[in-house]
Amino acid sequence: MILIYPSLFAADFSKLAEEISRIEFSADYLHLDVMDGVFVPNLSMGPNVIKDIRKRSDLIFDVHLMISDPFKYVDEFIAAGADIITFHLEAVSDPVPLISHIKASGKHVGIAISPDTPAEAVFPYLDSVDMILVMTVYPGFGGQKMIPEMTTKIADIRHEINKRGLEIDIEVDGGIGIGNVGLLTTAGANVIVAGSAVFKAEDASGVIEDIRDAAESAPYSEF
Ligand code: DX5
Ligand code: ZN
Repeated sequence: MILIYPSLFAADFSKLAEEISRIEFSADYLHLDVMDGVFVPNLSMGPNVIKDIRKRSDLIFDVHLMISDPFKYVDEFIAAGADIITFHLEAVSDPVPLISHIKASGKHVGIAISPDTPAEAVFPYLDSVDMILVMTVYPGFGGQKMIPEMTTKIADIRHEINKRGLEIDIEVDGGIGIGNVGLLTTAGANVIVAGSAVFKAEDASGVIEDIRDAAESAPYSEF
């Protein structure tokens, strides 16, 4: 099933509650980008922001941790109201203890990989996570251009998921809009993050529905 998660990073931070209300009836979940200025060369929001917007929204919070020591801070994000926690494989020496910790806290867990990390890097963990996030830009900034070569990586991961009879999500994040979402869903992605395309539009909900239509018109087809 295709799911659309708008990324709040592209919203106007001076009025987050209002920005969330622009998308809350068309978005499936809300994607929240956490950047620490170390793992990525940018800063965004911390658990205090998430805790405050948690009071204003019943949406499921999909928290994307772009931080260099996710284990150190994960409990703060869980306490703040995260429902899904995704951390970068490149940020940990062994993802297994963190996967177990997040699951033991009753939350869903995802592993993210940056553009230079190969598909095979996530294969050992497919049986124990809910989602793989394939970055379609280098993490750290909104408004970049989607890297089309990532479609091969998505297809390889989807192939492996299907081969094992698993039903986990492949999320894609970065540079995605109405015009290119179909390339990613055809390759096997089913969770679409969109920041600028949604929040920079006047009719944010309309864009979400258009992205959904474009994605649903381009179903997975094995290469
Ligand atoms: C980038 C973030 C993305 C970003 C997407 O590091 O993970 O979620 O906000 O924004 P757009 O859709 O503008 O590329
Ligand atoms: Zn993100």
